[in-house]
Amino acid sequence: MKKILVTGGAGFIGSNFVRYLVTTYPELEVVNLDKLTYAGNLDNLKDINENPRYRFIKGDIGNKNIVEKLAGEGLDAIVNFAAETHVDRSILDPEAFIKTDIMGTHILLEVVRKFNIKRYIQISTDEVYGSIAKGSFTEKSPIAPNSPYSSSKAGGDLLVRSYFKTYGTPVIITRSSNNFGPYQYPEKIIPFFITQAIYDQKLPLYGDGKNVRNWLQVVDNCRAIDAVLRRGKDGEVYNIGGAVEVENIKIAKAILRKLGKSTDLLKFVTDRPGHDRRYSLDSSKVKKLGWKPSLDFEKDLNDTIDWYINHRKWWEKIIKKQKSFQSFKESWYKTRQ
Ligand code: NAD
Ligand code: TYD
Repeated sequence: MKKILVTGGAGFIGSNFVRYLVTTYPELEVVNLDKLTYAGNLDNLKDINENPRYRFIKGDIGNKNIVEKLAGEGLDAIVNFAAETHVDRSILDPEAFIKTDIMGTHILLEVVRKFNIKRYIQISTDEVYGSIAKGSFTEKSPIAPNSPYSSSKAGGDLLVRSYFKTYGTPVIITRSSNNFGPYQYPEKIIPFFITQAIYDQKLPLYGDGKNVRNWLQVVDNCRAIDAVLRRGKDGEVYNIGGAVEVENIKIAKAILRKLGKSTDLLKFVTDRPGHDRRYSLDSSKVKKLGWKPSLDFEKDLNDTIDWYINHRKWWEKIIKKQKSFQSFKESWYKTRQ
């Protein structure tokens, strides 16, 4: 492969993936198309900004003209990370999710078809399967999303599937579990709780705090996506799950312990409506492509906490905007108790 378009490359996983590609493959050219929503941040890629094999274009995946112009330059693959991604925001205001996660995906698929691009990877989520009490979801599990976010992602996935079945478009879907690591926007639980704890602010746990997520280090996900990009089979879905399943309260306590803060900062708050209890993925299929996740969650979490301690300027710039959203969300959930 010589040239890849990464969409949503200024966000959390996308920026880690762009960096992974540019630093791993010395011949590869990477174009990053990103709308720069509240979650997009060019500071995430400051270190590679001057690299001649990397180029940033500001734009919406829903803008056919921009996407066609880039496709006209000749692309070997598109990897689509662009999405609205936060469940709480989708509950408060779903429209942008439907526009980007479904309609934006449709535009990309049309362009892949028209320009005969040989590989399209749709970055999706375990949340499309819904919640599971026991066992783990395989790629054959039925789709049963419970939030406007996960249903929009599921809508995108179904369009991707239909393009393979109907037009033979060379598409693949990856569904990963919850990611964590550097450059994650501090609205998601791990960076939100780290930054709250640093400021001696409360860590708001929804419900009883015992919801379970299947945690995956972000670079592990990048390595898995790369394996799928190079060795995956058209028309297939690949689950990418981390090695551990952890209750939210355990994560919160681990963050407080590492930062030397009191558990008095824990606060149980009104549950998120439609809150999925547990996610768990069976990743045996992607492991057959030669991938395996890191097994040391404690170390990876501690490294992430250190990263936030050492990159205070990065998140302090963002956090001001985040404050008004947090208080709006809390009062909205309370009124629906
Ligand atoms: P993020 O919110 O950090 O970043 C999303 C990026 O997409 C931002 O840079 C934003 O500006 C960009 N974007 C949004 N709408 C766009 C549009 N219309 N056109 C172009 N760019 C647009 O998200 P993330 O956590 O990095 O997630 C990336 C992908 O991975 C998403 O598709 C998400 O559904 C999926 N995913 C995330 C997780 C996770 O734990 N973060 C887990 C599984 C799957
Ligand atoms: P989140 O990081 O929003 O990811 P997702 O909902 O996509 O899994 O949330 C992870 C878990 O943490 C989820 O069970 C909800 C919970 N959570 C809280 O308890 N409090 C919070 O303030 C946030 C943001 C999440």
